[in-house]
Amino acid sequence: MTDSADRGTAARDEADWDIASGVGLTALAAAACRAVETLREPPLVRDPYAGSFVQAARAPAPMPVTPQQADGDQTFPWPAFAGYVGVRSRFFDQLLMTAAADGLRQVVILAAGLDTRAFRLDWPPGVTAYEVDAPRVLGFKDQVLAGAGARPRCARRAVLADLRGRWTPALLSAGFDPAAPVAWLAEGLLPYLSDAEKDHLLAGVQELSAPGSRLAIEHLSGGMDSMRRYAAFTEAPRLNDVDFDVTALWAHEEAADPVPWLAQRGWSVDVDPIADVAAAYGRPLPAILPQSMLSTVMITARLT
Ligand SMILES: C[S@@+](CC[C@H](N)C(=O)[O-])C[C@H]1O[C@@H](n2cnc3c(N)ncnc32)[C@H](O)[C@@H]1O
Repeated sequence: MTDSADRGTAARDEADWDIASGVGLTALAAAACRAVETLREPPLVRDPYAGSFVQAARAPAPMPVTPQQADGDQTFPWPAFAGYVGVRSRFFDQLLMTAAADGLRQVVILAAGLDTRAFRLDWPPGVTAYEVDAPRVLGFKDQVLAGAGARPRCARRAVLADLRGRWTPALLSAGFDPAAPVAWLAEGLLPYLSDAEKDHLLAGVQELSAPGSRLAIEHLSGGMDSMRRYAAFTEAPRLNDVDFDVTALWAHEEAADPVPWLAQRGWSVDVDPIADVAAAYGRPLPAILPQSMLSTVMITARLT
């Protein structure tokens, strides 16, 4: 296992990034993708709040909130990325709804960013959703949702923590019950963690998972090479005259596979290639996406 990658500033280590810089900006980009997808016909995901986040944030470069804006942007292939985010959103929506229908009453969204599942999904009574992310990301989110008059449709707890640090005490302090099963979600997170940090995250998940718990992970199984070489990631900031390099946020290692780790610890694991999921939704992934994203797998696991 290699050391933690040097991917940012001291500020990042203190989890004090905001929504318009560093890794926080990736949460805003994901929201832009959901805003665009929401207005497609038919949409893969309906997120009525996604556009409000983009409009409220002071992003260094414009981000689209409509399919027209996405289609017309000459600097970045937003339509392809919006489709990808739409597919993963729908897949994980269904997974969490199934877990809740099967009786799980705790959901933990790791690196929730601007995820609004607590507000937009039809949760059965008794569910608590815990959202873990950096304080300023969740603070911005609360502010925008309050301004939009949004009301959560389950109990919701914000957990302000750095997932590379001591995050499990923060989750427990927020009311999480380690004796009850939980559905975990790690969507859009692993590329930002080194292998050692992924191990740390999964060790926390393991420690707090009662039998019957479930876990869902988006994993770029093909590694990050094609992401690093993807011209649009460097060209878009240059064309928009913005000093932002998303590739610098990614861990240096080549995406260790979480499947063996989970299998060795009592999880029964399923792996669904996102390309198959997208095709089954009638929205095949466009070849313009980086190979790493085309070979993403959705890992779902149950602790038996
Ligand atoms: C690509 S966004 C994904 C957000 C959300 N899951 C979604 O799909 O819309 C990455 C998120 O990871 C969060 N993040 C990255 N590293 C983190 C860490 N060490 N601790 C807590 N949150 C982290 C960022 O703040 C950001 O919200």
